[in-house]
Amino acid sequence: MDHSMGRRRLFIMDCLVLIMVALNIIEAATAATTFEVGGSLGWTVPPNTSYYATWASSKTFAVGDTLEFKWNSTHNVLEVMTKAEYDGCTKTNGPIWETSPVVTTVTAGTRYFICSIGTHCARGQKLAVTSVASANVPTTPPGSSASSFPTASVVLPAILSTIAISFIFVI
Ligand SMILES: *[C@@H]1O[C@H](CO)[C@@H](O)[C@H](O)[C@H]1NC(C)=O
Ligand SMILES: *[C@@H]1O[C@H](CO)[C@@H](O)[C@H](O)[C@H]1NC(C)=O
Repeated sequence: MDHSMGRRRLFIMDCLVLIMVALNIIEAATAATTFEVGGSLGWTVPPNTSYYATWASSKTFAVGDTLEFKWNSTHNVLEVMTKAEYDGCTKTNGPIWETSPVVTTVTAGTRYFICSIGTHCARGQKLAVTSVASANVPTTPPGSSASSFPTASVVLPAILSTIAISFIFVI
């Protein structure tokens, strides 16, 4: 075991590279975000009817992200299936959650949530969440986001070749 100093330094550098690559992989794999619906207001009758649409438009939702609806007083979360039901505050027989907090996942496409109690929905307690194609996509017009993001097919070979080069130096 008589490594030269230069060789030992290279080995340490390669270990650091490997750790950085590992951290990147972990970060990419766990990049899902948890959103508290409505921010500090939570899930309630908002001060105006555009409140939740404004809140949602300030976020980028990716498939696999988490939505948390939290409330204190008398509310619920009813998921309606169409934009027409959402627009009209139609109280359908969709999935309904009565107890705060409600934790649910962002899926592909759009999910529509309303509060089915009294006039709460008509007064703005409703939320539409539309997901983008991949995690960490900056807000861009629909259609252009998928192509502008370096997908796993691009990132993964770069990571693997970095690992391969590191091992060549270690050996
Ligand atoms: C519920 O009440 C608690 C205690 O007053 C408060 O800390 C919390 O922010 C409230 N949550 C919502 C969603 O209003
Ligand atoms: C709605 O209420 C929020 C919170 O009070 C406020 O920031 C926003 O400007 C209001 N929007 C409109 C259109 O009044």
